[in-house]
Amino acid sequence: MSNNRRSFLKKLAGGAIGAALSPSILKASEAQVAELEVLNRDFSSNDRIRLAGIGMGIQGFANMRTAVQVPGVELVAVCDLYDGHLVHAKEVFGSHLATTRDYREILKRSDIDAVCIATPDHWHEQIAVEALQAGKAVYCEKPMVQHLEQGHAIIEAQKKSGKAFQVGSQRVSSIVTWKAKELYEQGVIGQLVMVEANYDRQSANGAWQYSIPTDASPETLDWDRFLGSAPKRPFDPVRFFRWRNYRDYGTGMAGDLYVHLFSALHTVLSSKGPERIFATGGLRYWKDGRDVPDVQIAVLDYPETKAHPAFNMQLRCNFVDGKGGGSAVRLIGSEGIIEVGGGDVKVERHVMSSRVGYGGWDTYNTFSEAQQKEYEAWYKAQYPLPENRIVEPDQMVYRVPEGYSDHLEHWANFFAAIRQGKPAYEDAVFGLRAAGPSLAANVSYFGNKQVRWDAEAMKVV
Ligand SMILES: NC(=O)c1ccc[n+]([C@@H]2O[C@H](COP(=O)([O-])OP(=O)(O)OC[C@H]3O[C@@H](n4cnc5c(N)ncnc54)[C@H](O)[C@@H]3O)[C@@H](O)[C@H]2O)c1
Repeated sequence: MSNNRRSFLKKLAGGAIGAALSPSILKASEAQVAELEVLNRDFSSNDRIRLAGIGMGIQGFANMRTAVQVPGVELVAVCDLYDGHLVHAKEVFGSHLATTRDYREILKRSDIDAVCIATPDHWHEQIAVEALQAGKAVYCEKPMVQHLEQGHAIIEAQKKSGKAFQVGSQRVSSIVTWKAKELYEQGVIGQLVMVEANYDRQSANGAWQYSIPTDASPETLDWDRFLGSAPKRPFDPVRFFRWRNYRDYGTGMAGDLYVHLFSALHTVLSSKGPERIFATGGLRYWKDGRDVPDVQIAVLDYPETKAHPAFNMQLRCNFVDGKGGGSAVRLIGSEGIIEVGGGDVKVERHVMSSRVGYGGWDTYNTFSEAQQKEYEAWYKAQYPLPENRIVEPDQMVYRVPEGYSDHLEHWANFFAAIRQGKPAYEDAVFGLRAAGPSLAANVSYFGNKQVRWDAEAMKVV
């Protein structure tokens, strides 16, 4: 066995090796349990975290349902602009819950330790900064900001307040992402040369055609407050409930979905981000009045850093995906591929046929027959075949255990950051480095130009 092969087997000990895919269940779910136990053990009864939700739509409910599973966390108040969501919050979490349409009422309360911001994107920066200034720990949904020039204000406010701040891309806490990071750092794919990532969907709901309640009216929802800093317009429940389809409030496919892929990739590679971004695409199918594309494709260049070599990336979102949709980040290296999915990591290892000028090239067949023979003999002497040449690719799958939740892990990490007084891993700097290239893809798409991004300074060049 070559050293290379032996160390590959050693590194992947515990996983399945061979041509057939036999999944290995990721053990790190124990880490999740341990995390919860640590949280459980380390707080006293007067050290409860009192939480409030700002924005109680799809993700607001998902966040609050998950957050309250962490021991010692109590949901005390929620804020939303549609009365139906406030009523439902009491139905789900209890009638004791304080409800309001004005988030500033929540920020004023000294008995609230942490807030979750799950509003449309155009409200993230303002509420995050005000919440940090009010001394709250903040869990802010992705994308951290709506526009490229935003974000530094949150970084500053976070530094000044010293409070925990975490962006809500839960893949960053997933055991799948961390397993992929471990595998990458062990060198199982050789030298990284490119990354392919996609987030595709094939349904009306997936394409953001969300349900609109029949009781939506200027009385049951606060239209003016929803608009906030966005251009003034007459009441329009479609814009309120399907805000992702409009650039005034959302960030399109890039801010909604690319950002998850960047967050996972940057965690795996310890990367700060790309330096050049170009995006194209179009509105091909969901022509329902939206002003964002339903197919968006980007190409990006990542420069060489201490953490990784220079590589290229291609990125795709497609809401008309005849294959049925799905999402993955594929790291392609000289010796194989690591594919990071939602619930598993796959490794496929191929030893590159790196033998120069023979088998791969047909040129020697054009030489005279005498020269072909001579060349063959010379070549075999020059480049003998390794005895232990690997013929079959190695294939591995690491899968999360039944019931595993990266979302719960992410919330547990947020509360651990609060309790231990440590910064969250996915802090405001990380958040801007993931939102930045996503939003730059929109600047490129809408401006029909390439964008240069300084990932260190987190600024467009
Ligand atoms: N991490 C994830 O996987 C994930 C998944 C879905 C959504 N998200 C993010 O969560 C955020 C919300 O998305 P959603 O799908 O829940 O949208 P949604 O429309 O279902 O909910 C948004 C809610 O915010 C409320 N709102 C609007 N402006 C407000 C304000 N100023 N103050 C208080 N409430 C306000 C609205 O009334 C609405 O109920 C977005 O930024 C989105 O990108 C993240």
